[in-house]
Amino acid sequence: MATNAESAGSSHESEHRSGKGGRWSAGRIALVAVASLIVLFLLVQLLPFGRDHSSPPVTAEPAWPNLEAQVIARKACYDCHSNETNWPWYSNIVPISLWVSHDVDEARDALNFSEWDRSQPSIDEVRETLGEGSMPPGYYEFFHSAAKLTEEEQQQLLSALEQMWATDPPASTTGDAESGETGDTEG
Ligand code: HEC
Repeated sequence: MATNAESAGSSHESEHRSGKGGRWSAGRIALVAVASLIVLFLLVQLLPFGRDHSSPPVTAEPAWPNLEAQVIARKACYDCHSNETNWPWYSNIVPISLWVSHDVDEARDALNFSEWDRSQPSIDEVRETLGEGSMPPGYYEFFHSAAKLTEEEQQQLLSALEQMWATDPPASTTGDAESGETGDTEG
């Protein structure tokens, strides 16, 4: 009887002790996890990826039909679609840097106002893309509120681009009219 009570008491005590020191509490595990993540985050900053923010040279620029449209394009498109990218501070932080530089690479491939001497998309593609309202991408607008174009600015930009493709087209255009008739071109 007495032994029972004794052993129960001592096991209780040892449980209590291990809870404090021996075993890790949830709070301690969380603390170590967070600390490890911070260390990992700092270490990963040393990786030599994504921070090569050199831009290729500007080889040929289009003649912008008017200054307003150029200003709109510069604030809303040029960070991605030109070789005159203003790299934001967060573009130096892994993994954002990887994402941003990948996006800029893709964007320059798709359309580059600094390389008018090479192939660019057709104005139909540009019209379509702008019409969808997918440019500039939402996350970019989040960081650059000025890049969020009003309906009016979009219209102004598009008509300038149409004029540009008509009067000073890129060296060549990709994506000729896809199958089917495209007689109706209402915006
Ligand atoms: C934050 C970067 C970013 C900004 C700013 C941006 N774009 Fe883009 N754009 C991209 C990326 C990435 C692609 C290629 C992938 C895709 O189609 O989604 C693209 C694709 C395009 C295409 C498609 C080209 C094709 O091959 O069909 C057009 C046209 C375009 N953008 C126009 C614009 C215009 C005009 C603006 C300014 C109003 C703009 N973009 C702003 C990132 C950007």
